[in-house]
Amino acid sequence: MIDDLWYKNSVFYCLSVGTFMDANGDGIGDFKGLLRRLDYLQGLGVTAIWLMPFQPSPHKDDGYDIADYYGVDPRYGSLGDFVEFTHGCRQRGMRVIIDLVVNHTSDQHPWFLDARSSPDSPYRDWYVWADKKPANAGKGMVFPGVQKSTWTRDKVAGAWFFHRFYDFQPDLNTSNPHVQAEILKIMGFWIQLGVSGFRMDAVPFVIATKGAKVGKPIEQYDMLRSFREFLQWRQGNAVILAEANVLPETDMEYFGDDGDRMHMMFNFFVNQNLFYALASADSRPLAKALQATKPRPATAQWGLFLRNHDELDLGRLTKAQRELVFEKFGPDKTMQLYDRGIRRRLAPMLGGDRRRLELAYSLMFTLPGTPVIRYGDEIAMGDNLDLPERNCARTPMQWSTEPQAGFTKSDRPCSPVIDVGPYGYEHVNVAKQRRDPNSMLNWTERVIRMRKEVPEVGWGDFKVIATRDPSVLVMRYDWRNNSVLFVHNLDEKPREVSFAVGLPGDAGKLLVNLLSEDHSRANERGKHTLVLEGYGYRWYRVGGLDYLLKRSDIDADAKGKTGHPA
Ligand code: GLC
Ligand code: CA
Repeated sequence: MIDDLWYKNSVFYCLSVGTFMDANGDGIGDFKGLLRRLDYLQGLGVTAIWLMPFQPSPHKDDGYDIADYYGVDPRYGSLGDFVEFTHGCRQRGMRVIIDLVVNHTSDQHPWFLDARSSPDSPYRDWYVWADKKPANAGKGMVFPGVQKSTWTRDKVAGAWFFHRFYDFQPDLNTSNPHVQAEILKIMGFWIQLGVSGFRMDAVPFVIATKGAKVGKPIEQYDMLRSFREFLQWRQGNAVILAEANVLPETDMEYFGDDGDRMHMMFNFFVNQNLFYALASADSRPLAKALQATKPRPATAQWGLFLRNHDELDLGRLTKAQRELVFEKFGPDKTMQLYDRGIRRRLAPMLGGDRRRLELAYSLMFTLPGTPVIRYGDEIAMGDNLDLPERNCARTPMQWSTEPQAGFTKSDRPCSPVIDVGPYGYEHVNVAKQRRDPNSMLNWTERVIRMRKEVPEVGWGDFKVIATRDPSVLVMRYDWRNNSVLFVHNLDEKPREVSFAVGLPGDAGKLLVNLLSEDHSRANERGKHTLVLEGYGYRWYRVGGLDYLLKRSDIDADAKGKTGHPA
């Protein structure tokens, strides 16, 4: 059973084939290169890879403009190479999920080419058309400032087509049963080739009603159930991880009251409040966001992330909160994007400050959910703000001090390697950090190992424990009579905090530090007092002297002896 719910306690790592490792020296990362780096990922402790789009595509939106759902872009290799890759992952005990981008296709997709060619095309109704410019054409752009409209006139078709994203990404008419059947077929295809599920792109838009007359789109949540049902029939333990940046009150619509819709969702709400917490040193809005996103079915899970491949979207914060995050982490206009976000990578945002990076990562690994690491963040890679829009944070992986960071033998990489400043590959690379026991890379590896030893975070229930100090977040997780407790100081100054663990009897008397020898014993009144350095964090196992005994219970559970999640 626990293996069936593997995603409840995994460590995800997200990467693009094209910028990870180039094996054949043409400047573009490929599946053969990625295959050679699987030992690196396994060594880091990754248990699941989220692969960004790799299908044939004109690449006008980093592959999110797909021209064939059933293939591999020849620049990355062949379907055969893909299967070698999933097989290589399986051999190492790692799972693979891939992007499922079905809100729209590329305008070069044969379906669209056929659809535009004639009103009688069998594919005409696969897209969303209007004879005249619709009244809502100036509304609902996802990339404001860059994208001018959501409807564009197509000369060949002699009609307007709807595009929620860029104008080269015509929206599929997802209400059309033929399109829905095709989406299932796409899932079935990749499941057959060895993937364990999908990161479903732009879910709220996939399920929204679309059309010239649609004022306020209505979400057709039942579609989510049919996707899941199909997937489960084909492969019981496959999952869908939804990209849905929605408000907490809508979460359960996506998970389904009976846990019959999406298995996982990215927690965008916590993500934004987490960055606010890091910027303001005030943990209270984050604690509220954790509380607000707490309800979810027992089999569902949050995906927890810091930075992803897009901008850091701050649209759910209040104006004042957003402005503070801009001021602290992205003050220049060039660092901001789409009037709502910051496009930088994590390390430069946090001033390259190791203490803050560890704090941020420690939070990501201990907040409720499954952590999702962005490639390169484990070595604190930087960005290149000269590249347009979100491309600044999508530069090639920095492997070594060899030319082009060891990413390619070509002197013309598909995206420029960062080679100047403190984040240049001569300073920041895997080879160097591998040799340094105190590097970010080795720290990340240790913290991942530790995360695997606290399954309570993935399975258990949490409580935010009150302290008098808003800059310190204390959380306890309980699962099957075991508890762990995490303390994070968001402030740059040292802090002293006192709190009671809040468990009956002697249970909370001893806090065993998981990262150092610095354990904590409660005073006579049952209170712990800790002194945390600026940006300090602590991971504790709660327990009396029998805590070691309890560990072996957990090990037994993890082997599946007693079965079901709490
Ligand atoms: C999602 C992706 C983003 C892409 C968009 C259109 O938001 O995360 O990168 O541009 O969908 O597919
Ligand atoms: Ca290549």
